[in-house]
Amino acid sequence: MRFAFLVTSALLVLTACDDEIRLPVQEVSDAVSPDYCGMNELMESSCLGCHGPGGSEPDLTDLAELIDVESSVAGELYVVPGDASASYLYAKCAGTQSQGAPMPLGGSISDENVDAIAAWIDAGATTECEGR
Ligand code: HEC
Repeated sequence: MRFAFLVTSALLVLTACDDEIRLPVQEVSDAVSPDYCGMNELMESSCLGCHGPGGSEPDLTDLAELIDVESSVAGELYVVPGDASASYLYAKCAGTQSQGAPMPLGGSISDENVDAIAAWIDAGATTECEGR
């Protein structure tokens, strides 16, 4: 997964200056499934560089640990099962946060993956993974 991510990143860099060349598959291949396994893949590739153990709060190694946990912003919980719009983790990724910068800081994740976070939370933020 990390290798695929690096290849995708390299392709993006290579094609960034040339509008003629399009690789429509890359967005799709970079999209994670909207379940717990997909969330962990996404956190690993886009977030753990800063939010690993001992890094910036919160530690995003296991999103199940963030359910109903209060963020640094009073009254804002990271993950509210069944309600992405009330979940600060989602707000930070969607760019609708009340404090600080949108995540990932200095980078970006695809709209599909932002939607996958919402779908996982709205479906109850379970620790199940479809088909795996
Ligand atoms: C380059 C480092 C970096 C990356 C990559 C990064 N973050 Fe952050 N994150 C920070 C810093 C620094 C803060 C604190 C400042 C702020 O809130 O803007 C923060 C704050 C947050 C907060 C709010 C914490 C709180 O309690 O206020 C959340 C939620 C969060 N990040 C989620 C993510 C997610 C999800 C990703 C991956 C999609 C991600 N971050 C990627 C550095 C990073």
